[in-house]
Amino acid sequence: MLEGGEGVGKSTQAGLLARRLDAVVTREPGGTALGERARALLLDPSVGDVEPRAELLLMVAARAQHVGEVILPALASGRDVVCDRFTGSTIAYQGYGRGLPLEEVEQACAIASGRLVPDLTVLVELDEQVAASRRSAVPDRIEAEDAEFHARVRAGFQMLAEQCGWAVVDGGGSPEKVAEDIAEVVEYRLAPATPDRSP
Ligand code: TMP
Repeated sequence: MLEGGEGVGKSTQAGLLARRLDAVVTREPGGTALGERARALLLDPSVGDVEPRAELLLMVAARAQHVGEVILPALASGRDVVCDRFTGSTIAYQGYGRGLPLEEVEQACAIASGRLVPDLTVLVELDEQVAASRRSAVPDRIEAEDAEFHARVRAGFQMLAEQCGWAVVDGGGSPEKVAEDIAEVVEYRLAPATPDRSP
């Protein structure tokens, strides 16, 4: 799984890594018809204020569909899966960002993923100002949150990386350099496969 804030280059890197591994590439929220519709709803600024628990439940509903429809079948057929965001994002955004109790967020994630744990999670880190300058000109509902929200999310990701033994890669170089760094860490950490301790 690739994790990180908006604008750090995760989606580009997920595509590059999947090509290198000949893996299925997918994203959250999204990856299925239901998930993509939930994503559109979740990111639409015109829906106005969304209750943090409603946001959490929509995120994990999209995940439950994604795990059942895309991830588990791909793994069962012997494919590797590279996913742009997973449980770590829910803990960082809905837990640390929105301030929902972490046990509640973890329970919701466990229900959605059936306790599916990634073999490896890579956090792509980038200076907040650089990341902000790379975000879309018209921010979506979550990108439009204030700097304090994004700082809490960032701190949440850093905490998770430390606690769960994620790999951390600097997203500040060229896309090719970042891709090399991610490939190196994947090769090193997954041979032989060592599951991380993601919640
Ligand atoms: P992005 O991956 O294209 O940046 O957009 C997805 C947005 O959804 C991003 O702002 C992070 C947010 N998100 C959550 O808040 N919780 C989640 O569980 C997931 C998967 C994403």
